[in-house]
Amino acid sequence: MTQQTAKPSTDRIVATGPVPSTSSGTQRKRAFIKSYGCQMNVYDSERMAAALTAEGYEIADGPEGTDLVVLNTCHIREKAAEKVYSELGRLKPLREARAAEGGKLTLAVAGCVAQAEGAEIIARQPAVDVVVGPQAYHRLPAMVRAAEAGTRSVDTDFPAEDKFDHLAPDTRANRNPSAFLTVQEGCDKFCTFCVVPYTRGAEVSRPAARIIAEAEALVARGVREITLLGQNVNAWHGTPEPGMGAGLGGLIRRLARIEGLARIRYTTSHPRDMDEGLIAAHGEEAKLMPYLHLPVQAGADRILQAMNRGHTAASYIDLVAKIRAARPDLALSGDFIVGFPGETDAEFEDTLALVREITYAQAYSFKYSPRPGTPAATREDQVSEAVKSDRLTRLQALLAEQQSAFQRSKIGQRMAVLLEKPGRHAGQMVGRSPWLQPVHLAATPEQKGQILTVEITGAGSNSLSAIAV
Ligand code: 5AD
Ligand code: SF4
Repeated sequence: MTQQTAKPSTDRIVATGPVPSTSSGTQRKRAFIKSYGCQMNVYDSERMAAALTAEGYEIADGPEGTDLVVLNTCHIREKAAEKVYSELGRLKPLREARAAEGGKLTLAVAGCVAQAEGAEIIARQPAVDVVVGPQAYHRLPAMVRAAEAGTRSVDTDFPAEDKFDHLAPDTRANRNPSAFLTVQEGCDKFCTFCVVPYTRGAEVSRPAARIIAEAEALVARGVREITLLGQNVNAWHGTPEPGMGAGLGGLIRRLARIEGLARIRYTTSHPRDMDEGLIAAHGEEAKLMPYLHLPVQAGADRILQAMNRGHTAASYIDLVAKIRAARPDLALSGDFIVGFPGETDAEFEDTLALVREITYAQAYSFKYSPRPGTPAATREDQVSEAVKSDRLTRLQALLAEQQSAFQRSKIGQRMAVLLEKPGRHAGQMVGRSPWLQPVHLAATPEQKGQILTVEITGAGSNSLSAIAV
């Protein structure tokens, strides 16, 4: 492991070695974890929360009056590091106030900015005690204990062991009936715009046995829906269990045998890894929900090639047709980048044409943002901000139209809704449709976790309203 400190002297530690204990009397310590970015960070934050709970911390829902703040950062787009530094600046007065009371607020930076910036964070913001990359979270508790004893540390290693095997399992009570479960991390695709292969490292799949055990434990605690997570989730190639089919399709079919588990989803997928087994699972496995996030990024072959996507517009369109043949009610979601270096007006039109051809139920779209260290960032043919903004507005208008048409298409339909949490008004609960849409209906908090058949009575731009039937 890398252990560095701002002052390269006596305060080096071995975080896995013996460290001072924290038990400090009756008052429980409190920690706040702020999560940015993707669902993988949300899952990691939950696991860090569970590990800190096992250390005796209570998890707070804001930074005020806490003993530990962890910023679980994202580096995917614009000014990520700057945002982290401003957030740290905002936390400084809290830290000073805590010190004035004779306490200590430990500040930890986790996630992809921690990975990308490393010791630079401690050098630039001396209030930070711990910098921990996404593959080293199992070392967080020891690093925090060391920080409490006055030692700052940085760990951005990619260790050989699986961090999840070394993090306390999440056994906290009263959980949401829908849970995330990371099955794969990292990416070897090296799209030329993307930092993930550098911040999350190479593709690693967790073994099926561990995933099944974690899924069973979640279901035993009332979870009805599991979303399998990975930067490249459909590239999952972990050690299978005996008798299990290959790939993510095989894993999904195995997980579907867990009694009490009602719904399975997965995200995010790469078109190149949608294999036959997974497509067949969409047609045959009723617990696999008819919703797929399958980013295409752009619609022109020249741009797709410059992005190193490894597919063409036509091969993506064919693939979608195949998946829809297996599961006709499948709804698609996508990611798009406008203004990749060198993208011409005509090439942007190709993106619009592809969107019209596919029809998305939901999508995320972004202006290209040069990420330091990625091949596209140093290209000289960068597209101007004004052109990017204009393209983004046009693309988003088209996507919004498609999304609202999809929403409206559900009015009058009957569907199963998994009740997740209380709604904004008394006597109301919010659930999820099979297509991931929030659905508002009259129900009681005791019904959380139930799957009800409802009839859709109204559609907003992001959610539906319904009555139970
Ligand atoms: N600029 C803009 N968008 C990006 N994404 C990833 N890297 C960049 C970048 N440099 C988008 C992609 C990806 C999503 C998670 O973020 O669309 O699928
Ligand atoms: Fe990034 Fe491409 Fe890997 Fe997705 S597939 S994480 S966009 S490099």
